Amino acid sequence: KPLQLIDRFGRVVNYLRVSITDRCDFRCVYCMAEDMTFLPRSHILSLEEIRFICETFVELGVGKIRITGGEPLVRKGALGLMQDLGRLPGLNELVLTSNGSHLAEMADDLKAAGVKRINISLDTLDPAKFKELTRTGDLQQVLKGIEKARTAGFQRIKLNAVILKNRNHQEVCDLVQFAVERGIDISFIEEMPLGAVDNHHRGDAFYSSDLIRQDLQQRFRLEAVTDSTGGPSVYYRVAGSASKVGFISPHSANFCGSCNRVRLTAEGRLLLCLGNEHSVDLKQVVRDHPGDKAMLKQAIVEAMQIKPEKHEFNIHEQPVILRHMNATGG
Ligand code: GTP
Ligand code: 5AD
Ligand code: SF4
Repeated sequence: KPLQLIDRFGRVVNYLRVSITDRCDFRCVYCMAEDMTFLPRSHILSLEEIRFICETFVELGVGKIRITGGEPLVRKGALGLMQDLGRLPGLNELVLTSNGSHLAEMADDLKAAGVKRINISLDTLDPAKFKELTRTGDLQQVLKGIEKARTAGFQRIKLNAVILKNRNHQEVCDLVQFAVERGIDISFIEEMPLGAVDNHHRGDAFYSSDLIRQDLQQRFRLEAVTDSTGGPSVYYRVAGSASKVGFISPHSANFCGSCNRVRLTAEGRLLLCLGNEHSVDLKQVVRDHPGDKAMLKQAIVEAMQIKPEKHEFNIHEQPVILRHMNATGG
């Protein structure tokens, strides 16, 4: 029987999300504060350490690895890492989450490296609003990246839009239209309270998936579908199109019961849940026992015992989780 990671609640963990850097060329208002301090180089895992940890997870039954950040493509050597991971036997799905800023030049190489699917953040189609929400991002560059990703031939491309009331909630139909015209998917995300942000009040900006669905039904017919990518999105098909719309609803529809994932932070902490601090320091393990796979496996298997049952996010209270999303990898 092949090895499997299983937690105390019987959930099989077969999906690893790896944040390869906490740095990013954007400063999205829901993700970061205006002024951020990033981790010093010595605190983050080397690419070699990341590779070793990923390989070990695959041997423990993980079939899907998603590379995240920060913005993963700002890390030097990101492509080489992806090329190595793409060759790991047993890894069925190597996937990437990106803000799109570097895809125009990297999409073809990423495809060749074996990246199967890409999720690209796109919260608005209005250049001024894009500047407002990302603070340092350039919409044109991201749109170029999306086009390039489309022609590179990935299995699926999905847009991610975090929806904030009175900032971009008015655009949900236009965003779906954009996706439909390109035959790609889109997920709408309820903002999660990770780390302090300084530019809006999260409770006031909350806009639920139900409201988004109602808005979309003014213009589109949504048909429930049962397939899943193994992530938290609940999907609908846009009738008469090739596109699906997903809803990630940590507040309005908790999906923790079917959680199948853990996260490796850029610092090498194995986070057992996005919304809790339960973690195991894998960096310590690989630095104390270099190359010792048995030791690492034991640490990972034991970590499953402290995976919490669910997150306790409350969008209307001050965040309990002090780390920002960029240090966490979504
Ligand atoms: P696929 O299903 O493989 O397409 O990926 P995904 O949608 O899970 O990944 P992506 O990196 O695009 O993340 C989209 C959003 O889902 C981000 O805001 C993540 O923070 C959120 N997300 C992913 N996994 C979890 C989770 O376990 N818990 C919570 N609360 N949010 C999650
Ligand atoms: N809440 C929800 N989603 C977030 N993201 C970043 N910060 C947050 C947050 N606080 C999203 C990004 C990206 C994905 C990986 O996570 O927009 O699409
Ligand atoms: Fe960067 Fe992504 Fe955070 Fe935006 S959401 S600042 S693109 S890491």
